[in-house]
Amino acid sequence: MNAPAPAPAVPRPYSQYVYAYPHKTAYRRLTPRPSLRELWAGEPKDALSLYLHIPFCEVRCGFCNLFTRIGAPDGLTGAYLDALDRQATAVREALGDGEPVRFATAAFGGGTPTFLTAAELERLCDIAERRAGVDLRAVPLSVEASPATATADRLAVLADRGATRLSLGVQSFVDSEARAAVRPQRRADVEAALGRIREARIPVLNIDLIYGIDGQTERTWTESLDAALAWDPEEIYLYPLYVRPLTGLGRLGADADAAWDRHRLALYRQGRDHLRDRGYEQRSMRMFRRADAPATGEEDHACQTDGMIGLGCGARSYTRGLHYSFDYAVDMRQIRAIVDDYTARPAEDFRYAEYGRVIDGDEARRRHLLQSLLQADGMERAGYTARFGSGPEADFPAELARFAERGWLDGSAPDGLLRLSEEGLAHSDALGPELFSPAVRAAMAAYDVK
Ligand SMILES: C[S@@+](CC[C@H](N)C(=O)[O-])C[C@H]1O[C@@H](n2cnc3c(N)ncnc32)[C@H](O)[C@@H]1O
Ligand code: SF4
Repeated sequence: MNAPAPAPAVPRPYSQYVYAYPHKTAYRRLTPRPSLRELWAGEPKDALSLYLHIPFCEVRCGFCNLFTRIGAPDGLTGAYLDALDRQATAVREALGDGEPVRFATAAFGGGTPTFLTAAELERLCDIAERRAGVDLRAVPLSVEASPATATADRLAVLADRGATRLSLGVQSFVDSEARAAVRPQRRADVEAALGRIREARIPVLNIDLIYGIDGQTERTWTESLDAALAWDPEEIYLYPLYVRPLTGLGRLGADADAAWDRHRLALYRQGRDHLRDRGYEQRSMRMFRRADAPATGEEDHACQTDGMIGLGCGARSYTRGLHYSFDYAVDMRQIRAIVDDYTARPAEDFRYAEYGRVIDGDEARRRHLLQSLLQADGMERAGYTARFGSGPEADFPAELARFAERGWLDGSAPDGLLRLSEEGLAHSDALGPELFSPAVRAAMAAYDVK
């Protein structure tokens, strides 16, 4: 194992949102570029995830550093779908036909997939089904949308093609907060979009909300939470606001502000308690699920071990030994160049992995621990040991001792379970980065944000 990196004495609660490990900024150009056929030979392929990335939005919100561009000049979305079609065909060929290839889940993310027209969404579903080979009506299908693009015709296509979950970015129901987050939208339009989504009868509605926006108070936070609850959503995600380099929010330096940290922590606790009191179960720091919500089948998927096929210019793919994608950027000009480059690619160019990071035994252990520990249910020690032959305490003695010292581990969890305490869960964004390997930290630090 690599030596653990030294941890800061008093960790700040909002260091980094760890939704995937290693982060894309730790990926590097792969030379020579490995062929997908070789990479996928010998990989289990009977429970893959499929992710299709649509890098278009109507606006660029002030907080957002996702891989997406504003609008699409004439013909670009069509050309992008043509490229997706070529990539899906090439990737499916590379998976080979020797063993059964089966997808267990599918998702359309972005950007804003519903930036595409209804007819384009039909085509997107056709690409997923006919080229990639997923049976969209037989697996959980999750789609992200923004209020203005969640139109009745698009939602009807998605519902008809098998969408089981629609995730709507709302951020705030208070118009002045939406403005402060540079997210041009009005509450009336958000409410109308929610009405259309419920009419479309997609089984799971998720609402994203953000706390820590300029001007947000405990009272206005409650107002947003209650406005979301009025729709009885099956899921709610509560995101602490992050202000990152190259995004539009003009409060550079504010992220070093201890008072803002305290404010976000207070709003987190308030939001968590509010949702729990109203029948929601906390699944992770950000995710809350209505206790009586219907199961979607997503729960059966082992995201720890199953492979992922990402299609589109910003999507990641995972085999057991390599995570890979195309180049990555935050700056608008660079993003446009990468989208254009992707769109112009011939089929042959989709047969290789270009940027990525090797996942060796140490990284696989870190990833497993990170992804399970950050779930409210915690990690079964036996599952970890069965996979790696050692125990988490033997592999990460310093980190776990430090977490215990800070009161971040639940001392009352049953023996076989490693689980965060309430405080540990609240500090997920501080704890997660402490489990990064020194090599991944160094690669992320050396990455030049562009
Ligand atoms: C792909 S977007 C959701 C779909 C759609 N594009 C939209 O914005 O309506 C993912 C979510 O991540 C959250 N998010 C993105 N950047 C964030 C940031 N800097 N701070 C807090 N939350 C953020 C937002 O809640 C956002 O809805
Ligand atoms: S938050 Fe959503 S709509 Fe706004 S820029 Fe990011 S991906 Fe696009």
